[in-house]
Amino acid sequence: MRYGYFDDERREYVITQPDTPLPWINYLGSEAYFGLISNTAGGYSFYRDARLRRITRYRYNNVPFDYGGRYIYVRDNATREFWSPSWQPTRRPLEGYSCRHGLGYTIIGSTYRGIEAQARYFVPLGENLEIWQLTVTNRRGEAADLSIFSAVEFCLWDAQDDATNLQRNLNTGEVEIEDGVLYHKTEYRERRNHFAYFACSSFSPLEGGPSRTSPLERGPSTTSPLKGGPSTTSPLEGGPSTTSPLEGGQRGVTGFDTQRDVFLGPYRGWDNPAAVERGQSFNSVAHGWAPIGSHHVKVTLQPGETRQVIFLLGYHENPRDHKFDPPGSQTINKTTVKPTIARYLDPAQIEVAFGALRTYWDGLLGILQVETPDVHTDRMVNVWNAYQCVVTFNMSRSASFFESGIGRGLGFRDSNQDLLGFVHMAPARARERILDLAATQLESGGAYHQYQPLTRRGNDDVGSNFNDDPLWLVLGVAAYLKETGDWSILDQPVPYDNQPGSETPLYEHLQRSLHYTLERLGPHGLPLIGRADWNDCLNLNCFSDEPGQSFQTTTNKDGQVAESVFIAGLFVLAAKEMAQIANGKSQIGKSANQQITNDNLQPPTSNFQPPTSILHSPFSTPQSYLDAARQMEAVVLEHGWDGEWFLRAYDDFGHKVGSHECEEGKIFIEPQGFCVMAGIGLGDGRAEQALESVNRLLATPHGIVLQQPAYSRYYLHLGEISSYPPGYKENGGIFCHSNPWVMIAETMVGHGDRAHDYYTRINPSAREAIGEIHRCEPYVYAQMIAGRDAPTHGEAKNSWLTGTAALNYVAITQWILGIRPTFDGLQIAPVIPASWSGFQATRVFRGVAYRIDVERAGPGNAISLTVDGRPVAGNLVSLPPPGQTEVVVKVVLC
Ligand code: BGC
Ligand code: NOJ
Repeated sequence: MRYGYFDDERREYVITQPDTPLPWINYLGSEAYFGLISNTAGGYSFYRDARLRRITRYRYNNVPFDYGGRYIYVRDNATREFWSPSWQPTRRPLEGYSCRHGLGYTIIGSTYRGIEAQARYFVPLGENLEIWQLTVTNRRGEAADLSIFSAVEFCLWDAQDDATNLQRNLNTGEVEIEDGVLYHKTEYRERRNHFAYFACSSFSPLEGGPSRTSPLERGPSTTSPLKGGPSTTSPLEGGPSTTSPLEGGQRGVTGFDTQRDVFLGPYRGWDNPAAVERGQSFNSVAHGWAPIGSHHVKVTLQPGETRQVIFLLGYHENPRDHKFDPPGSQTINKTTVKPTIARYLDPAQIEVAFGALRTYWDGLLGILQVETPDVHTDRMVNVWNAYQCVVTFNMSRSASFFESGIGRGLGFRDSNQDLLGFVHMAPARARERILDLAATQLESGGAYHQYQPLTRRGNDDVGSNFNDDPLWLVLGVAAYLKETGDWSILDQPVPYDNQPGSETPLYEHLQRSLHYTLERLGPHGLPLIGRADWNDCLNLNCFSDEPGQSFQTTTNKDGQVAESVFIAGLFVLAAKEMAQIANGKSQIGKSANQQITNDNLQPPTSNFQPPTSILHSPFSTPQSYLDAARQMEAVVLEHGWDGEWFLRAYDDFGHKVGSHECEEGKIFIEPQGFCVMAGIGLGDGRAEQALESVNRLLATPHGIVLQQPAYSRYYLHLGEISSYPPGYKENGGIFCHSNPWVMIAETMVGHGDRAHDYYTRINPSAREAIGEIHRCEPYVYAQMIAGRDAPTHGEAKNSWLTGTAALNYVAITQWILGIRPTFDGLQIAPVIPASWSGFQATRVFRGVAYRIDVERAGPGNAISLTVDGRPVAGNLVSLPPPGQTEVVVKVVLC
């Protein structure tokens, strides 16, 4: 079943039914100001950090699930009926409802009894504000007398504190109202120099109204029931009218509210606010309790007439020594923000800003566009997967409808992987992220597992010792170097743990990452797992039997025994990348276009010794990295091979995990994908054998499950993985992030059909038709799809913020379509389904547009390559001479 459709032309997903199985959301903003918006206008906004600078309040785990957001009410003053064009919160039956989620914007509209209303929400580039552009049209045969109300609930900045510290917070709320702009300034009097504002075009001085200063400015509330006064009588009982002095004076604006419980009325929710019901704001001024922003605008529309009302919700910072105006007062200095407000209350400026946003996304997505025989591939590669990569880059795992924005900052492992799908679109931002991440690395080479984006400091609560973490930095930097050729990043001084004075070149950070693994080898010579590796739930040193203890941070064992085959595979891959990085680094200035491949490095030398510390580093030459990789590879083949697949780990007792000898959890996906990606077993058939085992034992129609059999009970020595009921999350769920590793591995053994089949099984667009099973958004990946052991097999959960985005993007673009940036140029090595006749692509790489045409002449993957009409041996398209901006590449597969 479908709840909407892809409008491929406009790059929008159009939801045609508001009651989707779960909220289907979108993200606004791409730089510093961000918002989440659902298909019924739910969600919230924040500045940079979803926890520490939350602008609007949102209640997770609410009933209904999605309640509270950017709400607009329309009231028919003749009949007193009111509704929300976005369906929520009033849930009136609407005609022609549609929600168009586009790239950085959302448009929600509908018609109710002949009144058409549509709001376009977006964040202009370079600004810390969001625009709600409401258009109302009267489709009736007679004039309509309408009231429009807006509503947002402000958060008192720190979302965690806001939700929990009520004894303080119900006293601190403060607002100012000036020129009809509602300013939220809680804590501005003391240590904050930032505030939020909510403006409305009907108050806009730009529209030529004579009075710029509202008579209500800074005036005390005459209406708040919380303060006593005239409105102790319920407004609904028809007490004295609290008519705003503004009414009629400024083009239909009749009032505002800033105190939530006055606006809503006692015991009411957003579905039935007292102000909307009675058709008149209370002009309440919040003192403590719960500051909100709501405007009331009256509009009379003739038949066919359209009216636009613009709302602006923004965040602003003042210089600390110019917080107040006049100086010495307690009034916000608004001189710095007023020009911005005035600018975006102007519809012409809004069009300019919206055009710029479109251009921005055209630019990002234009870097890679493909045309294949498969619509689901095209849609995801050209639009939605790339878009999700940008969102995961921006958000890491902090704020979605399943990540509450207070739990996690940016993950070291996560953000390094997010880079892989993002770096080609905005390399400068990727560079900045790499340097931020590396600055949270510790001198040992280890890494804080997470850091807070606002402070850029490692998160002490979670700490370190996830032993895979540092190696992902190598992959992130390698991807950056391949994409950009910017070798200077390796010389960039970067501190450890953000400590001034501790800086070393970034290159040494990478070396320390590898050392970190080599200095922590276990009894079999495999890497010790620490708290966990990629699988946060395989906690082999935890042994927790205390309810509520964190599986990730509790460590009851000394950590000297449990080993990870997955980290071994990751190490091999990272060390091979380092060999190439070291080679490239040593080539700088020698030969710009020299070929660097694993193959033309020397065979391993026998005297490689794992170092005992960075001071005795064996790493000097490219060869030394390759030696380390090959030595680890040998250990994996000796102690990490189970006969038909790669083992997963050794536990704290030295027993195997992920072996046919185990009762449950006999085979895991991670080492099969990753070891093959690292090239382990490619030479001796073991790679193919491991992938056959995956196909036989783990693949389902909805994707590849993480392990089998799922754990049927809790195993103290395995940790969180066995805490989940079978089929969910890491316990036998289809953990989508790990599926593309297998896709990549399949391409490495030449299986294009199988790789693309796996790709399609979890491709959200391909799953659109089974929306009632999949339930999450059909335009983005979810973290998990319930596995075959779950009663809800095929049901997706935790959409949006997942490494699935970047890794699937890499799998389809670089390995299946085979358009792969390398240190030396663009490699084109498609491993596509046999039934495909070919495909076309445009890839902008290091400033050059490659027009690629792939044609299938036979069923295999052998390539004959022509570049600008000249045959070229191999599959590498070298960089053209400076000045050439376009290269025509023809690939024939046979
Ligand atoms: C989840 C993992 C996640 C971890 C991070 C666990 O509960 O199952 O997917 O990585 O928490 O904290
Ligand atoms: C989600 C986490 O964000 C990621 O870091 C981890 O690798 C996976 N879960 C698997 O546990």
